[in-house]
Amino acid sequence: MLSLKGVNVHIGKLHILQGVNLDVKEGESAALLGRNGVGKTTTLRAIMGLVAKSAGAIEFNGTDLATCQPHEIPRKGIGYVPQGRGIFPGLTVLENLCIGVTGKPDAQLEEYVFTCFPRLKERLKQQGSTLSGGEQQMLAIARCLMMRPKLIILDEPTEGIMPRLVSQIRREIHRINQTGISILLVEQNLETALKLCPRIFLMEKGTIVYSGAAQELKTQPEIVHRYLGLSM
Ligand SMILES: Nc1ncnc2c1ncn2[C@@H]1O[C@H](COP(=O)(O)OP(=O)(O)OP(=O)(O)O)[C@@H](O)[C@H]1O
Ligand SMILES: [Mg+2]
Repeated sequence: MLSLKGVNVHIGKLHILQGVNLDVKEGESAALLGRNGVGKTTTLRAIMGLVAKSAGAIEFNGTDLATCQPHEIPRKGIGYVPQGRGIFPGLTVLENLCIGVTGKPDAQLEEYVFTCFPRLKERLKQQGSTLSGGEQQMLAIARCLMMRPKLIILDEPTEGIMPRLVSQIRREIHRINQTGISILLVEQNLETALKLCPRIFLMEKGTIVYSGAAQELKTQPEIVHRYLGLSM
């Protein structure tokens, strides 16, 4: 469904991505992990066309994304929840939700989104900026769902969020995946990644250094220690 082959990104003189190979299959949920500054966010930004690649190819459902303008990529079916959420603080919850929707509102879809995130339904007229961090994260995910994505990519959705909302966000990501939407999740939290994603990619210095099943990674503490600095 999504495939990155040999993706390179230079920013100024810096060689940030150095040949990233990664793929997400239909209906799958995969996690991309790595220490701070290894290039995870840049990988997602390259997928969304928000940073130019100097080499390599990114394909989504048979379309070469290089042929798309950045604003066309969500319409191809990729939802993006950026690190730090990226909602519009001056707009209300309802306005934020409808921002990418063209044509008639779909009442059934709206209802579904509010079943996933009842907290948002209670706050439709509230300004984005006044939501808690966790609620802003839910709003960013809900906004993606409103565009009927086939794949959602999330950049550290539970970063800096209080534990009670973390488990709710995790649960919703899992439920979204159960409805057939593929997930690419960037995470710092290994436990969250292993719980939600059967397939794991580890990144270091702008390249993928490990890819394999979560079950398999669990049996390789030395790899986890080498690339994430964590002990299991
Ligand atoms: N616009 C930019 N200008 C200069 N350097 C950049 C730019 N964007 C990213 N970088 C650098 O590229 C490297 C990778 O950044 P990136 O944001 O992709 O890391 P990350 O893996 O998402 O880290 P984190 O876990 O902290 O979010 C970092 O060293 C960062 O400073
Ligand atoms: Mg990042």
